[in-house]
Amino acid sequence: MFPIVLGTAKFNTFQNRETSYSLLDTFVNSGGRRLDTANNYACWHPDGEGGESETLIGEWMAERGRDSVEVMTKIGAMPTDGLTYDNLDGLSASNIKASVDACLNRLQTDRIDVLYAHVDDHRVPLLETWTAMSDLVRQGIVGELGISNYNADRVTALESEILAHGLTPFKYAQYRYSLITPNFNRNFAPQVLLDETLNDVLHASRFKPEILTYSALLDGHLEEDPDELPEEYDNLLNIMMVEDMQAKAKNLDVSVSAFILKTISDYGYTPITTSTNPTRMMNNLALFTNFATDKV
Ligand SMILES: NC(=O)c1ccc[n+]([C@@H]2O[C@H](COP(=O)([O-])OP(=O)(O)OC[C@H]3O[C@@H](n4cnc5c(N)ncnc54)[C@H](OP(=O)(O)O)[C@@H]3O)[C@@H](O)[C@H]2O)c1
Repeated sequence: MFPIVLGTAKFNTFQNRETSYSLLDTFVNSGGRRLDTANNYACWHPDGEGGESETLIGEWMAERGRDSVEVMTKIGAMPTDGLTYDNLDGLSASNIKASVDACLNRLQTDRIDVLYAHVDDHRVPLLETWTAMSDLVRQGIVGELGISNYNADRVTALESEILAHGLTPFKYAQYRYSLITPNFNRNFAPQVLLDETLNDVLHASRFKPEILTYSALLDGHLEEDPDELPEEYDNLLNIMMVEDMQAKAKNLDVSVSAFILKTISDYGYTPITTSTNPTRMMNNLALFTNFATDKV
């Protein structure tokens, strides 16, 4: 399995249809297979409502063939007030069913390869959520299940419910992660950082989920002057670590982003990544592919 998942959050909103198609084609032609999307991508764009990414993937699959890719999508994190992430549509049984019906419609398919609970929903019992998610697997609508942004205690609690009630295990777990650590007490809610505690809980899980990571490139900031790190990462240790990454990437004659993705993969995690520029994305995959690409 190609060890990178393509992030598609900006498809059809921040990046136009032509660029999104080009990224999909380039990724698949390079051996990539798995796409990461969500029903709320990209509701934070000024013209976005959510669903734009899935819609584009659906159109692309209708042209290229459903089996060209595996679709990993997520539900439960659609803002209901349109402005903040304080009120989300969540993971009630009824919302799961309605959300998945809408996903299938946009994706122009009758099956989702992997369905994630996008963020934890403390208002709904874990048993209700996971019974509804498991029913979708039983009905053949969903292939496998995943969790994203669940903290360590809730991963353990969910695992107990699944085992107690014979429900479908989660086989994927997706979290925010980068090679540098944010300053103490930084809160990225509703995103959850993969830390040592979570790592240990996931590795101890009987379900042995594949651990996927997002936002490792910090929007390209790690390619820039280490003295200009985003405020939440700005400290002396991180500056020295970024200088070290940049020196190692230079020695390998690859982008810092390429070095970071390979390092994360070597740690045993699967990076989800993207770029609005297909050539830049290919260069970022240089340590995974044999494809010659132009440097940008
Ligand atoms: N589960 C969740 O809650 C969650 C949350 C966030 C994201 N995700 C998933 O993860 C995916 C990736 O997230 P992300 O965008 O935060 O990831 P990322 O890989 O950390 O960042 C991608 C950004 O880095 C920039 N970049 C890439 N290579 C570069 C290079 N060589 N030089 C300079 N800049 C470079 C890109 O800018 P250019 O476009 O200018 O190249 C792009 O904006 C999303 O699409 C989504 O599928 C999931």
